Amino acid sequence: MDHVNLGHSGLRVSRACLGTMNFGTEHGLAASDEAEAGRIIDAFAEAGGNFIDTADLYHRGETEEIVGRALKGRREWMVLATKGAMPVGTEGRGLSRRHLTRALDASLRRLGTDYIDLYQCHQWDPSTPIEETMATLDGFVKAGKVRYLGCSNFTATQIVEAQWAAARVGGTPLVSLQPQYSLVQRVIEAEILSACERHGLGVVAYGTLGGGVLAGRYRRGQAPDAGSRMGRLLGHSMPGANRWAESLLTERNLEIAEAVSQVAAELGTTPSKVALAWVAGRAGVTSVLLGPRTVEQLRENLEAFDLDLPEAARARLDEISRADLGPMDGSFFHLVPRR
Ligand SMILES: NC(=O)c1ccc[n+]([C@@H]2O[C@H](COP(=O)([O-])OP(=O)(O)OC[C@H]3O[C@@H](n4cnc5c(N)ncnc54)[C@H](OP(=O)(O)O)[C@@H]3O)[C@@H](O)[C@H]2O)c1
Repeated sequence: MDHVNLGHSGLRVSRACLGTMNFGTEHGLAASDEAEAGRIIDAFAEAGGNFIDTADLYHRGETEEIVGRALKGRREWMVLATKGAMPVGTEGRGLSRRHLTRALDASLRRLGTDYIDLYQCHQWDPSTPIEETMATLDGFVKAGKVRYLGCSNFTATQIVEAQWAAARVGGTPLVSLQPQYSLVQRVIEAEILSACERHGLGVVAYGTLGGGVLAGRYRRGQAPDAGSRMGRLLGHSMPGANRWAESLLTERNLEIAEAVSQVAAELGTTPSKVALAWVAGRAGVTSVLLGPRTVEQLRENLEAFDLDLPEAARARLDEISRADLGPMDGSFFHLVPRR
């Protein structure tokens, strides 16, 4: 598997990043148990992947514990990324010095390691001065607890604010953004991708199969099967579960998924591989997060990196998934960045 530098840094990461949000059972949305998670991590490593992403939020810390146990004895070869800011159990939230310090120490404990390769702010915190956040994160780097810094779900403005604040406090800049990006979610094309390029952030795309919608397993007019993620979410008591599923199972998304399935059939491949190859081939994407629930899904998804999407197929998918991003979408000739 190809490895590339993450943003303006010397950190080498695989083009595929293993997402672990499915590992665990804690909030009742049972996905991959610990044995399956272990098989997935083994298969990822065998394929040459070295980049693994988790968060304190996932299954209220259970996911980090599973990842920590699976990496025992082989921690060194893995670029381990986690995130803080979200509420976990009864602890606080946000990007304050108080919360982040506690969150990082808890992540280190659960992961069974004394350092994180890439520590990411899970989301922006409007109630903490960004200088406080960037100085705190820099302290983590100086203390040897963290090697590199990243963020997730930041807007273009927030990326610029964070980088300028890091410079103001003499701190360590961010080297990555983890945004949602797929054929059903292309908002980052408006401003965020160019902010990343200008400010030295690599892009690690998540939700690249639209939560499974682009894998072709949901059809218009048919209820999702109970074992699928959407089937598990609909009617689940977790706050926001229904809204999450409904936001993905829209008419527009299912229409895009249908086009992906048609392209896959014509190419003699699978919808997942087509959807992932589309993201992997987009300018500005450093690494593509895979969110497998089973080792079979992982193996299939890894094959996407060998799929060369023909230009005509790519153009068709671009067209059907094109979103109205307003005047900043780069479609005016004077806004297209020169490369
Ligand atoms: N920073 C953030 O805010 C944020 C948010 C979300 C995720 N993430 C990260 O991104 C990773 C991936 O996110 P995601 O889980 O939403 O990604 P995703 O790849 O869009 O969706 C994953 C789901 O797609 C289905 N799937 C995957 N491979 C498949 C295949 N080959 N065939 C059929 N179905 C397949 C599975 O659904 P079934 O379970 O139905 O089989 C799986 O649970 C997470 O693990 C996490 O690390 C970050």
